[in-house]
Amino acid sequence: MGTRPICEEIAHRLGRVESVLDVGCGDGALVRCLAERVAREAIGVDIAGSTFSEKWIAEDGSSHLAKCTQDDAHAMKSLADSHFDAVVTVHTLHHLADPVAALCEANRVLKPGGAILIADFAKGHGGERIWRETFYAPEQVDTMLKKCSFQWVEVQQVPGEHFLFALGKKMKGPLRSKTTMNEEAIIQAIQRVQHPQINCSLVDLGMVQDILVSEDGVSLKLVLPFLGIPTVIREYMANNLQQAVAGSDAELEIQVAEMTPAQRQRFLTLEQQNWKA
Ligand SMILES: C[S@@+](CC[C@H](N)C(=O)[O-])C[C@H]1O[C@@H](n2cnc3c(N)ncnc32)[C@H](O)[C@@H]1O
Repeated sequence: MGTRPICEEIAHRLGRVESVLDVGCGDGALVRCLAERVAREAIGVDIAGSTFSEKWIAEDGSSHLAKCTQDDAHAMKSLADSHFDAVVTVHTLHHLADPVAALCEANRVLKPGGAILIADFAKGHGGERIWRETFYAPEQVDTMLKKCSFQWVEVQQVPGEHFLFALGKKMKGPLRSKTTMNEEAIIQAIQRVQHPQINCSLVDLGMVQDILVSEDGVSLKLVLPFLGIPTVIREYMANNLQQAVAGSDAELEIQVAEMTPAQRQRFLTLEQQNWKA
């Protein structure tokens, strides 16, 4: 995808923000476009890319900055904590020696509630053979983002193409209520809830997604392989999830959804492999 189309795509997916970081910015063409289309401050880092700093005043009088510096995605020493509204990384994730470390570093520089957007080739792309590179499958990117505590993770493979977009949000701050469990403890408690008949957690099975802890409470999606599964099983899982957060005084809101065919296929494979005797 060329710089302009990807810039338009990012603008469409992120909307307008104050500041954006492009990790693995290369020649900085996207950074310049982001400073026009997406944010008044667009910074790029690259281990071997261009370095420049350009400021200008737009027609509406707003000041814009496009800047690229040399830095390593795994430890961006030039960048402060919680600075950016959004981080984007294009065609770069598969180049990183430790993508999880780099995504956690992206999380560090994001403001609470800020978004990460990854655009990259997906597993099966012809470039794996031609360029001898290894691309990630959507499920792998999903796992990486969740390991770095991103929430509302959505990974979409572009239909008919081996290209993916992944979006995640950095958790907002700690709960304001006098809870005995902090945000991380709540998420971990939910992650430990097991399926009653399958030797896996609901999170591993893809049945619990999009855990969001905010000042207003805890919400998650209970994603069922089929909406028609017996009510008693559905209620058993919902009760266990309620119990997991019982130590906090946060309200748990459960939204029920049905798996996509790909999610269902993955669920059925795990079910077959881990069915309790
Ligand atoms: C395929 S290029 C993509 C450049 C640009 N984002 C684009 O889409 O045209 C991958 C970029 O990742 C950069 N890169 C690789 N490892 C890096 C690291 N550890 N930290 C920062 N940048 C890195 C490379 O220098 C290169 O510019």
